[in-house]
Amino acid sequence: MPSKNSAGDSRAHLRVFPELHQSSRGWRFVPAADALKDRTVLITGAGAGIGLTLAKTCALHGANVVLLGKTRARLEAVFDWIGEHTHTRPVIVPCDLAAFADENGQALHDAIADEYGSLDALVHNASVLGSITPIAHYPSSAWENALRVNTSAPFYLTRALLPLMEVTGRHSSLIFTSSGVARQPRAFWGAYAVSKVALEGLCTVLAEELAQTSNVIVTSLNPGGTRTVMRREAYPAEDPNTLPMPEDHMDLYLWLLSAATRTQHGQRFSAREWQGPSQSGDSSAV
Ligand SMILES: NC(=O)c1ccc[n+]([C@@H]2O[C@H](COP(=O)([O-])OP(=O)(O)OC[C@H]3O[C@@H](n4cnc5c(N)ncnc54)[C@H](OP(=O)(O)O)[C@@H]3O)[C@@H](O)[C@H]2O)c1
Repeated sequence: MPSKNSAGDSRAHLRVFPELHQSSRGWRFVPAADALKDRTVLITGAGAGIGLTLAKTCALHGANVVLLGKTRARLEAVFDWIGEHTHTRPVIVPCDLAAFADENGQALHDAIADEYGSLDALVHNASVLGSITPIAHYPSSAWENALRVNTSAPFYLTRALLPLMEVTGRHSSLIFTSSGVARQPRAFWGAYAVSKVALEGLCTVLAEELAQTSNVIVTSLNPGGTRTVMRREAYPAEDPNTLPMPEDHMDLYLWLLSAATRTQHGQRFSAREWQGPSQSGDSSAV
């Protein structure tokens, strides 16, 4: 149940983020204002789109957010917003995931260990769309880049950071961001579709490996068509006003991050179809 503040409004803390406050009227899960207090959450692609909204949302619920993304200025803007509106301790990690490798993973592991001691959640959100082109004409550089950013980087990051997620003393959350074309690949979606199919594969393999031995809850989450720059790139003629905003999906993310349970482990979620915790098995926090 959401906690109530003295004014009786369980969503009052969201007012500094008006779009989130507005969207939260329709949320299927409303966590307590301090649901992520003292938890550390790493979000890739935290400078724009869904990742940006998620970073602000997590900080508003008390999380220390590790903001990873390509463009430093965007991360700094999120960092400043969090500093202005919350008492949490964010850090920024500007880096190009296309070039992420073992040494970057080790450095990030050590930095998070020094600053926070452990990691409660890792959200693989950053992606590139690549080219919407038939395979017969697909540009090699776009292919390589999409597979590196969308699939290989989540592998390197996960492998490097899992040890920090296994020492939290409670369930931690590992979320892979999927797509409709991962679950049903379609013509012309090229490397994006292939990279997301592979990402779902990584998620499934890892979930099976960790099922009996780990506190880490592994899930995949398909946001579905959402009002962001990536969606506009993919569907330039579409009216964005017909799409949900990232803020509309934050209930599902908050549920997975604040109330991770064994029953979620290995599940594939779709933000647009999710009916709320009661439709997803046990929703009790651990
Ligand atoms: N929007 C949709 O309709 C939709 C539908 C299904 C699935 N998804 C998935 O949802 C996730 C978020 O999508 P979105 O629509 O929010 O995308 P977006 O607005 O394009 O944002 C993508 C984010 O990824 C970061 N990124 C891209 N390349 C990077 C790199 N080489 N290194 C580090 N960071 C990089 C970007 O950083 P910069 O800002 O610095 O460039 C940006 O913050 C993606 O995984 C996407 O596949 C989206």
